[in-house]
Amino acid sequence: MSSISRRSKYNNTIESNSAHDTEEAGVNLSQMVKCGETVLLTGPLGTGKTTLVRGFMRGLEYLGRVRSPSFTVSNTYDSKPPVIHIDLYRLTDPDDLIVLDLEQQSENNITIIEWGNRFDKTETLADWRVKLEWDDQLSTKRLITIQTTKI
Ligand SMILES: Nc1ncnc2c1ncn2[C@@H]1O[C@H](COP(=O)(O)OP(=O)(O)OP(=O)(O)O)[C@@H](O)[C@H]1O
Ligand SMILES: [Mg+2]
Repeated sequence: MSSISRRSKYNNTIESNSAHDTEEAGVNLSQMVKCGETVLLTGPLGTGKTTLVRGFMRGLEYLGRVRSPSFTVSNTYDSKPPVIHIDLYRLTDPDDLIVLDLEQQSENNITIIEWGNRFDKTETLADWRVKLEWDDQLSTKRLITIQTTKI
């Protein structure tokens, strides 16, 4: 269990039955996360991490395209506040995170990291942790657990 799990004041699990529900969870999350905070998204392939980010960005009234930044590692959306969307799935060398550290220290944006539990280094950055789970891959049902020590 990570330290944030033990210390969390806010620990809420919701059931999502569709991509739309997961987007709505992202909208709701966007109303709680503050500028300067970092959100780690965890969960197996295809559980809806990027879908949740899409809802998060809609909640910030961002109208541009939201896609997994798998090939660029990070996307920056010029929302208010700006959001840095990182995907660590293809990153194999934790030393490459040095480049990302500069961005993550910024107080002037929100950082959202898919596969955020891939390296210990990113684990420690978490202000918010969102875990997506499914029962079986044929169902659209997901469990989404949101934890934070920030509220
Ligand atoms: N309840 C649900 N929540 C989210 N997505 C769902 C749900 N039910 C079905 N889907 C579908 O599952 C897919 C989720 O894809 P998405 O890219 O968001 O997952 P991901 O976790 O970001 O994947 P990856 O690990 O490849 O980054 C979409 O095609 C979406 O329509
Ligand atoms: Mg994704």
